[in-house]
Amino acid sequence: MALAAVILAAGKGKRMKSRLPKVLHRVCGRPMVWHVLSAVRALGPDRILVVVGHGGDEVRRVVGEDVETVLQEEQLGTAHALLQAEGRLRDFPGDIMVLCGDTPLIRSTTLADLVARHRSTGAAATLVTARLDDPTGYGRVLRGPAGEVLGIREEKDATGIERDIREVNAGIYCFGTGELFELLAGLTADNEQGEFYLTDVVGRMVERGLVVVDYPLQDYREILGVNDRRQLALVEGIMRRRILDRLMLEGVTVMDPGTTYVDAGVRVGGDTVLYPFTFLEGETEIGCECHIGPGARLVDSKVGDRVTVQYSVVLESVIEEASQVGPFAHLRPGTHVGRRVRVGNFVEVKKSRLGEGSKVPHLSYIGDATVGGEVNVGAGTITCNFDGRHKWPTVIGEGAFIGSNVSLVAPVEVGPGATVAAGSTITRDVPPGALGLARSRQTNILGWKKKR
Ligand code: UD1
Ligand code: CA
Repeated sequence: MALAAVILAAGKGKRMKSRLPKVLHRVCGRPMVWHVLSAVRALGPDRILVVVGHGGDEVRRVVGEDVETVLQEEQLGTAHALLQAEGRLRDFPGDIMVLCGDTPLIRSTTLADLVARHRSTGAAATLVTARLDDPTGYGRVLRGPAGEVLGIREEKDATGIERDIREVNAGIYCFGTGELFELLAGLTADNEQGEFYLTDVVGRMVERGLVVVDYPLQDYREILGVNDRRQLALVEGIMRRRILDRLMLEGVTVMDPGTTYVDAGVRVGGDTVLYPFTFLEGETEIGCECHIGPGARLVDSKVGDRVTVQYSVVLESVIEEASQVGPFAHLRPGTHVGRRVRVGNFVEVKKSRLGEGSKVPHLSYIGDATVGGEVNVGAGTITCNFDGRHKWPTVIGEGAFIGSNVSLVAPVEVGPGATVAAGSTITRDVPPGALGLARSRQTNILGWKKKR
């Protein structure tokens, strides 16, 4: 049978106190709605719809092209939000799963189980529930004498006794299309918040004698919703640990999970060791047998096998196999470090290529440069790439030797096999195999001390 998934993501998220729409707040580097979408996508539903509203254009940009979006112009409640999809789904020949964009921990296996339970029981509605030690803020599940679901009561509308109920509504449901939209359209907003509650549809179904089934979850953490930034931090911590657990099971050593931060979507190869205070962010990919950290931040970067990065920041860069970076290096966007390269202490590299086997071991700035293989760049060497208006390139050929404290005033080229004398300020090209010497000659005045 066909399946459509609708994700409600139009709310402003007042309790976040933010300019950003709530579902775009990030958990382990990805917007919350991205996490919900990836759980949904793993099920392979026939259609995915996202109801957008507050910050709709921004939300549309992150959802992806396989997703239909529906606009809810005014945020009048979750029932009203789902009703906006009626035009698209009224004749949909299958079940409709409904989720909230602010519950990023939900797993695709749970969603699959929900759909299976819904279908095997032939229910009109199946809802995910869980028991929480602190149910504050969630809708409570109301049950009859035989334990049957009667409805859901929102916290703001609950009586004292109802508030003591610890079983909550996850905001994740599976519906048959049958009476759904008709019942939604018939709801009223006479409640504390003056909103059209999707949760009211459950009670209406029960009143009509339709079958409503619950799907109680053992692991309550999956359904935690994010309404404020304390919950955002709670969810972040759970997701972070989940990512690290997966990496460890895949053969990555995480020395101290408490201080290691890996974004969703980052890949790490087997036998790599992540040391404390390591941050792997965005689209980062790390090879096998690497040593990353302590104190490393890598963003949108690709690292080959057997690479070492310590106490360094690496942004939008590539580091090939068996290279060593740091301690205290800064690779800025557009840097490509070849194989067996050493980028050492207090070195900054920007938008440059370093060829295989080259070394920039100490105190350098290399910007807009192309450095061939087996080049040695002496301590304190600087590419002077900026004349105050334009950035200019520096080219250093294969096997060149740059002495210490050299200034390479770009645009300039040092040929393959050339040598540049220490302390030189190089403003003209150095031909291949030549010695470039550009410093004033030393004069020694003999007996100077005695004369004074
Ligand atoms: C909702 C449920 C509550 C449940 C909880 C689980 C209702 C009335 N209440 O409460 O029973 O325990 O989720 O986390 O459904 N949204 C829209 N348009 C709107 C309003 C909301 O798209 O007009 C979206 C929001 O962006 C959000 C989701 O619906 O992603 C849930 O809305 P929210 O206001 O967070 O509902 P809760 O108060 O958490
Ligand atoms: Ca919520």
